[in-house]
Amino acid sequence: MTPYTVTSEIFTENKNSSIKLNNGTAISTFIFKCPSYMIKPNCANYILTHDSDNDLDVDRQKEEKLIIEHRTTTQMQHVGLQVWRGALLLADYILSNPDLFKDKTVLELGAGVGLTSIVASFLAKEVICTDVDVQGILKLIRKNFLRNSAYIKSKFYVTELNFLSSTWPTFYAKRMNEATIILAADVIYDENITEGFVETLKKLLSSKIPKTIYIALEKRYVFTVANMDTTAPMYEEFLKRIETEKQNWQIEYIKIDFPRYFKYNRLKQMILMKIQNKLNE
Ligand SMILES: C[S@@+](CC[C@H](N)C(=O)[O-])C[C@H]1O[C@@H](n2cnc3c(N)ncnc32)[C@H](O)[C@@H]1O
Repeated sequence: MTPYTVTSEIFTENKNSSIKLNNGTAISTFIFKCPSYMIKPNCANYILTHDSDNDLDVDRQKEEKLIIEHRTTTQMQHVGLQVWRGALLLADYILSNPDLFKDKTVLELGAGVGLTSIVASFLAKEVICTDVDVQGILKLIRKNFLRNSAYIKSKFYVTELNFLSSTWPTFYAKRMNEATIILAADVIYDENITEGFVETLKKLLSSKIPKTIYIALEKRYVFTVANMDTTAPMYEEFLKRIETEKQNWQIEYIKIDFPRYFKYNRLKQMILMKIQNKLNE
């Protein structure tokens, strides 16, 4: 039987900016509008546009690009080797809110090929980028960091953190505990992983250090005969699991109308959630 494979819509939408390599990998260019606080006065690279009279537009927008290596299609258990929409939503949120990330210790969970962590490292003091170590994913993240080193301002560490394992890398345990910002994009798509993810959040949020977690996800709808309706079962499963923590956690939804720096479809079924630990006053 052929194994079930998936392809991220991001690759399909971004095909023209990708160079396919032989072994199922691709190198893609992710163009982003450069936020004004990143523009260096002597930086060239402006995009020159013309109005209907062929005059040069005065409002010139500088663009920059990330170069990301990823797979074009994978089996379900290796989806981290692709780039997903949530990674770009979180990256936009970071670029829109530099003060929240500047000089912070940031931990990313289920980082995939590392795009969001790379963007966080434009601003943060330290970024600890984690995922499960399958199919050389951690090696790929390191390669992607190095590819984009011109933008990296923070120290960065790449290490395994598996939601389904109770042991975390001791070398990084202190740093992870010190992280005040935690990011996770598109990690809610499977029941076991969602359960492990919530257990990981519980562990992180039981710290005495104030922590803010930003979770980006796309509600994935399916029609079920049982309900005779379309539902987003994994999202609902996630909500059910965090419901029991409401006394200890502050949970908010962030409106996703912040500026769009990257090019992708920001679908209305995308969610950005913020969770903080309530520390005893
Ligand atoms: C859909 S991908 C999202 C990747 C990336 N955050 C993005 O948005 O492009 C889901 C991510 O969850 C990770 N993941 C799956 N099982 C995990 C586990 N047990 N512990 C930690 N991460 C896991 C995958 O390796 C993958 O990177």
